[in-house]
Amino acid sequence: MLTETDLRNGLTTKRFGRKIFTFDSIDSTNACAKALAGCWAAEGTVVLAEYQTAGRGRLGRSWHSNPGDNLTFTVILRPSLTPSSVNILPLFTAVAVADAIESYCGVKTDCKWPNDLLVRNRKVAGILLEGSFKQEMVEYVVIGIGLNVNQEQFPPEIAPRATSLRIASGAPVDRPKLFREIMTTIEQQYDRLTVEGYDSIIPRWLARSVIIGKKIEVSQDGTVLGGVVRGIGAEGSLLLDTGEGVRSLVAGDVTILEFEHASRD
Ligand code: BTN
Repeated sequence: MLTETDLRNGLTTKRFGRKIFTFDSIDSTNACAKALAGCWAAEGTVVLAEYQTAGRGRLGRSWHSNPGDNLTFTVILRPSLTPSSVNILPLFTAVAVADAIESYCGVKTDCKWPNDLLVRNRKVAGILLEGSFKQEMVEYVVIGIGLNVNQEQFPPEIAPRATSLRIASGAPVDRPKLFREIMTTIEQQYDRLTVEGYDSIIPRWLARSVIIGKKIEVSQDGTVLGGVVRGIGAEGSLLLDTGEGVRSLVAGDVTILEFEHASRD
C-alpha cells in the first residue's frame, strides 16, 4: 500500500502533492476529490487509492486497475477559466503526464484525443475531468488519472488495446518516484500555462498527437461521424473534416482507421 510518506518523500513541489489522501480501497478517487474540493481543499491536493470499487471512466464507463500495480489518483485544480474552456485541461494533463513518463521511464508516449495516452498504439493511461461551475466560472476541477504502471495482465476484453509502462520498458517501475515526477511536471507546466495562456498547450499536445491528418470515426451518443482530423480548436475541440465541412467536436470516442501509420517517429 502506498502511503503519503512514501509518495511525498523528496517531493519538492510547492502545491501539487503537498497534501495527499491515500486509501487502500475507495469508491472513486474522483468522487472523493470532488467532495474535498467542495469543502475548500487547496489546489494541488491529491486523492490516491490502490483500489477503486467504482472507478469511473469517460462516457459512463468504469475503470478497473489491479490493486498494488498502478497509479490511480485525482488532483484538485482551481483554474481561472470559463466552463467552456475546461476541455483544454485534459490536453494539458495528457502532455504533462506524457512528459513525466518519458523523462522518468524513457518510454515514448503519444496523445490520443481527447484524454488518452498511448504507448505503441496501446492505451497506457486515461484521464477523466469533472468540474463544478459557479457564476460562469470554474469553481474547481478534479482531474483523475489512471496510469497502468506495473500491471502485466489485462482482462481479455481490453488486453489487445492495453499496455503498461512495465510491459513497454521491460522493467518494474518505482511508483512513488514516477508519482513525484508527475507532480513536479504538472506543477511546472501548470504555472507556465497561467503565464503563457491556456492555448499554449495546443502545439505541445499536437507534437505528441497521433491523429492529425488521419482518417477517424468519432462515436458520440450512438451516432458515428467519419472524417479526417484537421486540428484542435482553441478550447480543445477536435476539428473533423467530414467532407461536408469542418465540425468542431467537444466529446466522443475516436477510432483511428489508419492505425498502423499512426505513431510519431
Ligand atoms: C478513461 O480513459 O475513460 C478515463 C479513466 C480515468 C480513470 C481514473 S482512475 C483515478 C480517477 N478516479 C476515477 O474514478 N477515475 C479516474
